Amino acid sequence: MAVIEVEGLWKIYGDDPKAARRLAKEDGLSKAEVKEETGSVIAVNDASFEVGEQEIFVVMGLSGSGKSTLLRCVNRLIEPTFGEVYVGGEEVTAFDEEQLRNIRRSKMSMVFQNFGLFPHRTVLGNVEYGLEVAGRERDERREKARRSLVTVGLEGYEDSMPNELSGGMQQRVGLARALVNDPEILLMDEAFSALDPLIREEMQNELLDLQEQWDPACTILFITHDLDEALKMGDRIAIMKDGRLAQVGTPTEILTDPADDYVRSFVQNVDRTKIIPARSVMRDLQDDESNESTDEWPTVSPHTPIAELLPILLDTDGPIAVRDESDQLRGVISRKAVMKEVMRNAGVNGEREESAEPVQVEAAK
Ligand SMILES: Nc1ncnc2c1ncn2[C@@H]1O[C@H](COP(=O)(O)OP(=O)(O)O)[C@@H](O)[C@H]1O
Ligand SMILES: [Mg+2]
Repeated sequence: MAVIEVEGLWKIYGDDPKAARRLAKEDGLSKAEVKEETGSVIAVNDASFEVGEQEIFVVMGLSGSGKSTLLRCVNRLIEPTFGEVYVGGEEVTAFDEEQLRNIRRSKMSMVFQNFGLFPHRTVLGNVEYGLEVAGRERDERREKARRSLVTVGLEGYEDSMPNELSGGMQQRVGLARALVNDPEILLMDEAFSALDPLIREEMQNELLDLQEQWDPACTILFITHDLDEALKMGDRIAIMKDGRLAQVGTPTEILTDPADDYVRSFVQNVDRTKIIPARSVMRDLQDDESNESTDEWPTVSPHTPIAELLPILLDTDGPIAVRDESDQLRGVISRKAVMKEVMRNAGVNGEREESAEPVQVEAAK
């Protein structure tokens, strides 16, 4: 079942949203044309999508395309103009204030780009804040906040002030704060965009690992303007342009079958083998393969990019095992699956004609 369902969602800034919607929807005017004609800004244009349980769903688009607005319509930090949002089957767009407060406290947490920490509270004070406003006992708050800090690797920093920490560490605090009440849904708005590239990559990997380990895993709605990040993090990606979802699909679908010229121009220079993760080409262990035999196989993590499997294949004839952080077998990758991806990336057609003459190779003298 879908954890988040968004149906026909619009956010229009302006005096006459119905007129603006009609111009966009029925007369096919662009965002810029509607703005020029009516003065209204269509921030989100008829967005519909579902996010499955434990999925990482990424919304990717250029600045101003409507990503933050869309995300904030989900927890109603921004009020949608038209359309419905359901979370866990409940219509959030029909909630009153009290219900909204409850769902934000118990089910959905948000991580912001600029960390959004209270500067005068300690790290621990920041993390326990949500539990405090929810009226939890001090001991319980502290205990949960401490545990959450351990999860994000900040044990020992409880009494530090935010400005004593690096950007990466501050965002770890932001993440710990979001995780403190065991949310079912994490809303992350460009959460890693302000970080230096290396720290950013580290955080991406940790989030992926964490999400695999959480039990039950969180569902994540993840916003980014960075295509590489989208392709790396997303189980599925929505590409957003001028408030519209131009395409929703898996990273592999987006890369191999772009829905229109806009998406095509976006992805044309991507080296897929550096992006497409091991998990997207793995298969289940087959009946004739015993679980023990996989112990002998080389092992990679689910998010190792295909390109990094190539040197491993130099040293093995057999398949590669895919294991998560807790050493659980997640799947198996055959040589052939890797080669297919590499060929596809190089634009080599894998179909060989039946009638083709055998290729004669002259022996070099
Ligand atoms: N309060 C507002 N009034 C008018 N237009 C707005 C307002 N907030 C956002 N917008 C417009 O909505 C569009 C989407 O903005 P936003 O969701 O912030 O984009 P993104 O997060 O993708 O950068 C932009 O064109 C922006 O200018
Ligand atoms: Mg934004």
